[in-house]
Amino acid sequence: MKDLTPRKEDLDPIEIASIDEIRALQLERLRWSVRHAYDNVPMYRQRFDEAGVHPDDLQQLSDLAKFPFTYKNDLRDNYPFGLFAVPREQIIRIHASSGTTGKPTVVGYTRNDIDNWANLVARSMRASGTRPGDIVHIAYGYGLFTGGLGAHYGAERLGCTVVPVSGGMTERQVRLINDFKPTTIMVTPSYMLNILEQFHKMGLDPRESSLQVGIFGAEPWTDAMRKEMEEAFDMHAVDIYGLSEIMGPGVANECVETKDGPVIWEDHFYPEIIDPETGEVLPDGELGELVFTTLTKEGLPMIRYRTRDLTRLLPGTARSMRRMEKITGRSDDMIILRGVNVFPSQIEEQLMATGGLAPHYQIELYKSGRMDAMRVYVEANPDAADELSKTAAARMLTKRIKDNVGVSTEIIVGDPGSVARSEGKAKRVVDNRDKG
Ligand code: DLL
Repeated sequence: MKDLTPRKEDLDPIEIASIDEIRALQLERLRWSVRHAYDNVPMYRQRFDEAGVHPDDLQQLSDLAKFPFTYKNDLRDNYPFGLFAVPREQIIRIHASSGTTGKPTVVGYTRNDIDNWANLVARSMRASGTRPGDIVHIAYGYGLFTGGLGAHYGAERLGCTVVPVSGGMTERQVRLINDFKPTTIMVTPSYMLNILEQFHKMGLDPRESSLQVGIFGAEPWTDAMRKEMEEAFDMHAVDIYGLSEIMGPGVANECVETKDGPVIWEDHFYPEIIDPETGEVLPDGELGELVFTTLTKEGLPMIRYRTRDLTRLLPGTARSMRRMEKITGRSDDMIILRGVNVFPSQIEEQLMATGGLAPHYQIELYKSGRMDAMRVYVEANPDAADELSKTAAARMLTKRIKDNVGVSTEIIVGDPGSVARSEGKAKRVVDNRDKG
C-alpha cells in the first residue's frame, strides 16, 4: 500500500491547532448554537425553561451538562420541519432517514450548512488519503440518505473527479471501476464485500485494481474486516462516521497514517460520553453513549443529541482533535441473550477468525421455549464448501463464540451466496422472537 499521509500544509490549520485554541473556539460557537436553538426552536425554549437553564448559563464547556438531552423521538414528534431554526425558505436541502418503524427523521440544511458539510467531507477524504485530482467512485446511496450526496459534495469540494454511481447494479460497479480507474471508493463496508465478490465472479484480480483508498462507514465494521479488505484490494481501508441528525457522513474520520479511530471534527461538533442509564457525563476514555452538540449548524441545531452509539473519547494523535474509538455497536443493536450482552460485531470478529468461512453473515433471534436463542447464518468459502469442511467450520465458530463472547449459538453454514447481500447498510439482525 502506498503512503498517502497528507502534507501538513494541506490540512485546515484548526486540525492541528493547540487544544486551548480548539476549546476557545468551541466555547464561542457553543454559546452561539445554544442561543440560536433557544431563540428559534420552540421545543428547545420549552425544554430549557422547564429544566431551569438559560443560554447565559454557558460560561464554560462543562456547563453544557446542565442542559437537557435531545432524542430521535423529538425529531419524529416535530415531523417534518418543527425543529428547523430558520424560516423554511432558507433550507436548501432536505434529507431523511427511513427508520425501521414509523415516521422518517427529517433533517434540513441552509446554504452555509451545506457549505460546511462539503468542507468537512473534503477534510475527511483528505485525512483518508484522497487528493485533489483523484477519481472518486461513490457507491453510497444517493437520495434521501445522506451518504451519496454528502460524499459527492465533499469530493467535488476537494477537487476530485466524481463518479456518482450510487448503490446497486454490482456488475456495473465493477465494470466502472475497471474502466474509469478510480483511486478512492466510498461505500458501506458490507457492500464493498459484495463488490469484491463480483470482481472474482468476473475473473478480475481486485489487487490489480486502481483503488488505493476505501472510505467505509454508515454501519459498524471491525478491524478484522479492515484487514480482510486491505489485503483483498491492496488498498487502505479508512473509517468514516456520521449521522443524519448531526450532519451526515464526515462528523468524524480516521487518518490514513494512524487508522486508530475516527477523529471528531471538533470545530463543528462538541462530543460528550455519558452513562446511558443515568445521563451523567463520563471522563474521556470511558465507554458510554456518544452525545453530540452541533456548533455551527443553522438549519437544525442539535443540542446534546443522544446518538445511541457506544464508544469512548480518546486523545488526539495525527490531529489535535479527539478521536472516538471505532464504533462496534449501537445500544439499539445490543442483543441480550440469557443475561449476556452481544453485539453483531463480536460475532463478525469471531467469524473472520474462523477459517473456511466467507465474511457474510446474518443473525436470527428466535424463541426456544420461553428462552431467547440466536442462530447465525454464515457461508462457506467457495474453496471449502464440501460438507466436511462446513461441519468443521460450524463447530469451530460455535466454540469460538462460546469461548470469546460467552453465548451458545447455532451456526448454519450455507453454500456460497446463501446469505443475503447488502447494497447499502447490511441488516445484521433479524428478530423473529415474536413469530412463535
Ligand atoms: O449513515 C451517515 C453516513 C453515511 C456515515 C455514509 C458514513 C458514511 P444515518 O443513516 O443517519 O447516517 O445513520 C447513522 O449509522 O448513528 C451509527 O450507528 C451508524 N454509523 C455511521 N457511520 C458509522 C461508522 C449515516 N463508521 C448511524 N461505524 C450512526 C459504525 C456507523 N457505525
